[in-house]
Amino acid sequence: MILVTGVGGNLGSAALAALRAGGAAATGSSRTPGEGTRHLDFDDHASLDLTGVSTLVLISAGYAEDDQVVGRHKAVLDAAVRDGVNHVVYTSLTTAGDHLGFALAHRATERLVRASGPPWTILRNGLYAELFGGLLIWAGDGVESAFGDGALAAVAREDLADAAAAVAANPARHSGRVYDLVGTPITAGQVADQLRVPHRTIGLGEYRRRLLDETPGLLPFQPPLLASIATGIRHGFLDGTAPDLTDLLGRPARDPLAMAVAAASATRPEASL
Ligand SMILES: NC(=O)c1ccc[n+]([C@@H]2O[C@H](COP(=O)([O-])OP(=O)(O)OC[C@H]3O[C@@H](n4cnc5c(N)ncnc54)[C@H](OP(=O)(O)O)[C@@H]3O)[C@@H](O)[C@H]2O)c1
Repeated sequence: MILVTGVGGNLGSAALAALRAGGAAATGSSRTPGEGTRHLDFDDHASLDLTGVSTLVLISAGYAEDDQVVGRHKAVLDAAVRDGVNHVVYTSLTTAGDHLGFALAHRATERLVRASGPPWTILRNGLYAELFGGLLIWAGDGVESAFGDGALAAVAREDLADAAAAVAANPARHSGRVYDLVGTPITAGQVADQLRVPHRTIGLGEYRRRLLDETPGLLPFQPPLLASIATGIRHGFLDGTAPDLTDLLGRPARDPLAMAVAAASATRPEASL
């Protein structure tokens, strides 16, 4: 049995759907399970029962400080070893993301995965096209960002889910492999062109100020994390391409520009239409 964690989230739910669509014997887990899925909360160690699981697709459980994220992942890996899981697939962060504020938790988890014992596969996921589009800020008659003219090798989240499903369905073929799953470079200007609005670049200081002063609901670690994404893209550290995604998919990748445009459209205020 394949188990995909975090199926209450976008990536986990899409990976489980792809596995099931391909006829694999797969289930999911979540902190908020539905019918046919297990209750697993990485923060509640008593809930971490992986008996009967052959392949574990460990969807990273971010959105917290590094010590909490790494602690979560260690707890579920310990349970995987204890309960006899045969293969661990971990959704990590693209190699080029080493400069990003949340890279350390991924690399620390990769170390834990490699040391845990069972065969493993590491999927170094690129930044989502949906994230890139969603980070554009609507202002006046157009969009603003701190990305400048920098490009991101953005990838559609559904493609990452399909890649995870392809690996989990045939884990032995991918044992000990690290895949860099990035897409095609896109810029904020290209997204704005598709939306037929101007794109204006703001400085990183102004971006951080807006995150700190004008963005309610952000947790303390999030402004530096988002600023690290902006400087990484702006200065050309996240635009490199690699063949691994299309190799795993066995087909062309979805168009990341279309995904980013859709995500930016979804946040467009009525007043700017
Ligand atoms: N590459 C990128 O651009 C990018 C962007 C954002 C995030 N990420 C990372 O990729 C992961 C999946 O992305 P997504 O789009 O599916 O994110 P999402 O829709 O926001 O889902 C959050 C995920 O974190 C899991 N999670 C959080 N706390 C958990 C806990 N205590 N125990 C178990 N699971 C926990 C959730 O599982 P349940 O709700 O089902 O329990 C869910 O799978 C994120 O968690 C984050 O680490 C990557």
